[in-house]
Amino acid sequence: MGKVTVVKLGGSVVTRKDKPFTVDERTLKRLCEEIAASGKRRLVVIHGGGSFGHQIVHDLRLLPPSRSADRIGLAKVVKVMDDLSSHVVNAMIDSGLPGVLFPTFAVAVSRGARVKDLFMKSALMALEMGLVPVMRGDLCCDEATGYAVVSGDVVVEALARRAAVEKVIMCIDRDGLESGGKVLPCVRMRDRSYEGALWEGEAVDVTGGMRHKLEALRPLAKKGTGLLLINGRRAGRLLAALRGGRTVGTELRW
Ligand code: IPE
Repeated sequence: MGKVTVVKLGGSVVTRKDKPFTVDERTLKRLCEEIAASGKRRLVVIHGGGSFGHQIVHDLRLLPPSRSADRIGLAKVVKVMDDLSSHVVNAMIDSGLPGVLFPTFAVAVSRGARVKDLFMKSALMALEMGLVPVMRGDLCCDEATGYAVVSGDVVVEALARRAAVEKVIMCIDRDGLESGGKVLPCVRMRDRSYEGALWEGEAVDVTGGMRHKLEALRPLAKKGTGLLLINGRRAGRLLAALRGGRTVGTELRW
């Protein structure tokens, strides 16, 4: 089985952070068209929560997990993420990409917000059939805390532990990690030398922001998986990254 490329569509890119529960349809469409134009088909697309998932978890005060949390609230998180996933899959299909959804809530169990079990057989068979599995950051049943909010980045890492992933392209709303106003073309993960280049986003973020994303991806860097942070809001960068060409962004190496 050939190696898989993972594209993470950050919530800050596919939703509008200034408007809760609003998809950035234009950006989403363009990103799907770039994926389609790349010709790559051994792909998994993972999307984040943006102003859908983060907003509702925050509004309903569902974190830290509580045994007495309102069950309707928990169901609403999954429903809201279903709505966002539905936009993503629609945009993919409209661009000629056969996206099929594997909601993380249904295929994964976490322990302390880390994915412990991930049912992969159907997604891997779908890949073999030429379909493009779509996964996401999501609410998850959690062995330690009852439920947890699992980020798309944790899902990326869990997937790469179970499938042969050659490259992960993370689309965020910045050009990459920066120092002194300049994009760092490459950052070493081994000693966490990126700490000084992190930022606090202005949007609601219940999963821990950029620091959490990089921490989740560290094991992949150690394994030698190609990791690239790019700006999904700039036209052409995802296409260039998928084609393996040079583009503005930050490569994460061990
Ligand atoms: C968050 O996933 C999922 C929920 C809040 C339900 P991510 O943490 O991967 O989302 P983004 O990409 O940062 O928006």
